[in-house]
Amino acid sequence: MSTVWRRPGYEFEPAATPPLPPNAYASAEVFADEQQRLFAPTSGLTYVGHDLLLPQAGHRRADGDPRLLLTRDDTGAVRLLANVCTHACRPLVTDDLPVCRSTVLCEYHDWSFRRDGSLIGGRNIDFGSGADGTAVRDRLALPSFPTISWHGFHFAVDPHHADAYAADLARIDADFAERGIAHWLDLDGWVMASTHDDPYRGDWKMFLEVFGDCYHVPPYHPGLASFVDCGSIEWTFGENFHVQFLQLSSERGAKSARYADWMNGLDRYYALRGEATPHTAVAWVGVYPNMMFEVYNGLRVISVAVPVGPDQYVNRVHYCVPADMEQLVPGLPQAIRAAYDETVEEDRTLVETRYDGMLAAASLGLTGDRYFTNLSGPALEAGVAHFHDWWTRRLAQPVG
Ligand SMILES: [Fe+2]
Repeated sequence: MSTVWRRPGYEFEPAATPPLPPNAYASAEVFADEQQRLFAPTSGLTYVGHDLLLPQAGHRRADGDPRLLLTRDDTGAVRLLANVCTHACRPLVTDDLPVCRSTVLCEYHDWSFRRDGSLIGGRNIDFGSGADGTAVRDRLALPSFPTISWHGFHFAVDPHHADAYAADLARIDADFAERGIAHWLDLDGWVMASTHDDPYRGDWKMFLEVFGDCYHVPPYHPGLASFVDCGSIEWTFGENFHVQFLQLSSERGAKSARYADWMNGLDRYYALRGEATPHTAVAWVGVYPNMMFEVYNGLRVISVAVPVGPDQYVNRVHYCVPADMEQLVPGLPQAIRAAYDETVEEDRTLVETRYDGMLAAASLGLTGDRYFTNLSGPALEAGVAHFHDWWTRRLAQPVG
């Protein structure tokens, strides 16, 4: 990789990026700072859900953020509201199921709100009439937060920089278009097959580090490394994201029966559709702070690493498959998921042992850096350096 990675409006110098300091991890103070500077809805760009999670008019909790509600009105417009009743501050919705109703109802005292957050009323309460009554109702509307949308993904956004964030997301489109796979970002014609939450020990940033580390794939993921060709890696970067593009390996999944099933199943699937199997194996898209979109040949995985404390987080995972795959090649969606899960289990060890090692280093009083990124050759850990660079810049900004 050249010393400086450049594109119009953005450049990144991996070798100039120091790793995060040891005290950036698993610290209560840093966690509180991150909640305010990275995860507050107006702090930057934060993923809150995808159209597949709220396909119809109604509402549901934001994906991975129980403090927020996503609503969709009859015109299809999506809004982001506080999931907190303005009567006495109780959460309005307490699970992640979509609610197909025109109002948001607080069950405790029957206060109800429209999908734009405006207050309709409450049980046996008079808010007054005329201008005074309107002012009271306005004050008691559910607070709403600005959003931007991209290929069905919805993000809470800092309204002062919404255009810059939208321009950054558009760079991902350009990167996919350059490789002839612009349509791979769309999930039209795909179904969400399943969702689950995986709890992890450690600091959420370690999960993003592993996501931006392709260095471990050849030695540690034999199955995956015989499905994707790590030698073909192409990195792209923007202010708030990185993408790794990899081609299919000529080994055709030979090191794992599950990955071989994936590869052979793809050939059958595309043949039955009268298409050639595309050469791209995967584009791993990381949108900071914590959203990952894994755009595989035959599988899409949306995941979000949700911090729940300084030393624990949950990775929420949504598997999406083409709507016609099970019918054309029965069992293939399940086979693909089994292969993917094989790699997930390997990664769990990888991500949690880094936390174990960080604790050991601290207890030994070691003062050295906790990461030395490999930027040689194809720079298989450039995504780690990029995430460290992003985090350092964002946490250095003044609050507000
Ligand atoms: Fe991995």
